[in-house]
Amino acid sequence: MYSDNPGEYTVPPDPSPADPADEAQRARAEQEAQQAWDAEIDALLASGALDGTAAQFAQPRGADLLRRTEPLEAWRATRGEHGVWQYSRALDGAPHPIASIQDEAGASARGINFASQDYLSLASHPAVAEAAARALREAGPHSAGSAVLLGNTRTSLALEQAVGALVQTEHVALFPTGWGAAFGALTALVQPADHIVIDQFAHASLRQGASAATANVAINRHLDVGHVRELLAAIRARDSEHAILVVTEGLFSMDSDSPNLAALQDTCHEFGAALLVDVAHDLGALGPGGAGCIGMQGMLGKIDLVMGAFSKSFASNGGFVATASRAVKRHLQLFAGPHMFSNALSPVQSAVILECVNLIRSDEGAGLRADLMRNVGALRQLLHAEGLQCMGIPSAIVPVLIGSEKVSRLTGKLLFKQSVFVNQVEFPGVPIGASRLRLQLMANHNVQQVKRASLVIGNAVRRARVALEAGEARQLKMKGGSG
Ligand SMILES: Cc1ncc(COP(=O)(O)O)c(C=O)c1O
Repeated sequence: MYSDNPGEYTVPPDPSPADPADEAQRARAEQEAQQAWDAEIDALLASGALDGTAAQFAQPRGADLLRRTEPLEAWRATRGEHGVWQYSRALDGAPHPIASIQDEAGASARGINFASQDYLSLASHPAVAEAAARALREAGPHSAGSAVLLGNTRTSLALEQAVGALVQTEHVALFPTGWGAAFGALTALVQPADHIVIDQFAHASLRQGASAATANVAINRHLDVGHVRELLAAIRARDSEHAILVVTEGLFSMDSDSPNLAALQDTCHEFGAALLVDVAHDLGALGPGGAGCIGMQGMLGKIDLVMGAFSKSFASNGGFVATASRAVKRHLQLFAGPHMFSNALSPVQSAVILECVNLIRSDEGAGLRADLMRNVGALRQLLHAEGLQCMGIPSAIVPVLIGSEKVSRLTGKLLFKQSVFVNQVEFPGVPIGASRLRLQLMANHNVQQVKRASLVIGNAVRRARVALEAGEARQLKMKGGSG
């Protein structure tokens, strides 16, 4: 069904039509298939594999720190047995649009991949591979220290300049991961008596950084600048002594939506607060010259602190914080733990990211963004035609709202079986009851793959909803009958 060529995909043939002379046999086969499917759903519902959420295991209690984690593993095992454990799958090879994947139970499948983060397909770009090979030859595989203790290289210094030019913000501190950049920035800059106002859907790296920095954390309703204003006014009414950091994202990773950055930045300045915007998912993949939502909203060079991850569009782990202030950069270098106390980006990572920045700013980069957005537009339109709700604005992330974790888990199982790979997201990635399928597109997907996937996804969601409704009705009937 799938060619070895990662870009190639052939639509599987329709099943051969049944012999018209043998209608009865076909009807019998259909009835048997339906019975087997009903039995599978009954077993799934009876097992409890669709019940509960990870929230109930998040804070285990008891004196035995190791053994108290076992209920989570028992829950996972039940879900795994029934094919509805969506985490810890492994990619066999590169993150191409057609990929081979293995789940934790060892089941493998090859199919259309919307579960990888390589928005511009730069992880397979020949110039990027050549940059990595050159760096490996010249500097070896390893960064031999933290960025402040000889972990910097000529390439990482050039990368700081290139990222500064991309976001039009002069001083850039690099981090070994995007997580480290977020956590490091918040914990270094915000002191215990200071305040943080953070969007309710901000990434875990930002939320955990906020909690580690201060107990004074206020959460604003998603994208609601009016609510940020209310919170800032309330803080300033009782505390004019301490600093406030407002934290948001350029493009939210589970919702694909974006705040009004100008309004937010103005509001911050009005109350003597600073703004940090995490551009992990939009920088490179969106906006003029790849400048992301900040570029799209005409805010380049106007945001107090721009923080990002290279892991979505720049083909490498790594992160950064950009600021107009040399002093802020210096403070981060000394007091952001993941900058000071974690080894720097390796020479290979720096070289890969630098090559990606150059490609992103070139005409070729503009072409890749156009390819990506063509796929995004087609996918959103086709999923809509399937009766599905795509959240947010067009971007490489296409979240399809499902709501119920049960439907979402069963849909994920059906999609894996039919070789369409998406990330099925539930708590702790998103709030309970707001489960969704998160599709992440790449420039190298093609329209045929997008069309095929939309049909399969539409069918899978419908089939999951119908099967669960019928299965739950059967369960109720059985309980009524026996009671
Ligand atoms: C919004 C956001 N910020 C930060 C990060 C952390 O980046 P990384 O995974 O590269 O460490 C992520 C990654 O998932 C993210 O989605």
